[in-house]
Amino acid sequence: MLNRIKLWKKPNPSSPLRDRIEQIKKAAIPEHVAIIMDGNGRWAKKRALPRIAGHHEGMKVVRNTTKLANQLGIKVLTLYAFSTENWKRPKMEVDYLMKLPEEFLGTFLPELVEENVQVKMIGYKDQLPLHTLHAIEKAIEDTKGNDGLILNFALNYGSRAEIIDAVKHVLKDCKSGIMNESELDESLFSSYLMTSKLADPDLLIRTSGEIRLSNFMLWQLAYTEFWFTEVLWPDFSDEHLIEAVEAFQKRQRRFGGVKG
Ligand code: IPE
Ligand code: IPE
Ligand code: MG
Repeated sequence: MLNRIKLWKKPNPSSPLRDRIEQIKKAAIPEHVAIIMDGNGRWAKKRALPRIAGHHEGMKVVRNTTKLANQLGIKVLTLYAFSTENWKRPKMEVDYLMKLPEEFLGTFLPELVEENVQVKMIGYKDQLPLHTLHAIEKAIEDTKGNDGLILNFALNYGSRAEIIDAVKHVLKDCKSGIMNESELDESLFSSYLMTSKLADPDLLIRTSGEIRLSNFMLWQLAYTEFWFTEVLWPDFSDEHLIEAVEAFQKRQRRFGGVKG
């Protein structure tokens, strides 16, 4: 147990990345980092393995990335794990992806609890198989008293559906008199989204060389800094997250204003 705590809390002092981590911590850390974890299938294909082997490997990277995000002081880590469009994949692959939360949380939930991580989820719960939902709900329940890093899984998440649902909800609340149309502004609309309790991402990372959003957080990413890499998700390492955060720290965010 002690070893595990040490592993989480202290970077290996001999690690060449240690200095970079310390440097990063001296400047502004992106509070919310969102990642489109892509390229598992191609990783497997390159090795003549079935696609699911790539998903399995990718799961280990989720653990490492969470660990480092926690160490860096990132407040929210949103991971795009399954989109509303991913149901189009072969049943066997979908079934495997739906087993991953159980496998991941079955192994790492105690570690997440210990490390003060809060597990959360955005996405449509209704269509998830019960075993998937139960694993996620147990993790959310077991970590609800924690107040450290929020590990937010986007599971069966789709941004367009989320926006349509928010619009419908707004219309309903206007009709029933809960809200007045004149009150509706960006901040109130945001509160109708699945991310209502989270700040917008500061940094978006997408792996595997694809330069697109694939229906991810279209509203929330309006002023987010993007960082794309050719690296496939199962090959994404501490070094890459550090590189992304370093790149973020060199950016000048203007939000439509002028340079400060
Ligand atoms: C990302 O890897 C994982 C999910 C979308 C669930 P992919 O499975 O999309 O891998 P590629 O893009 O086919 O390589
Ligand atoms: C986006 O990746 C969804 C996730 C990473 C969960 P996809 O692999 O589904 O995206 P496309 O199909 O290449 O746009
Ligand atoms: Mg993909």
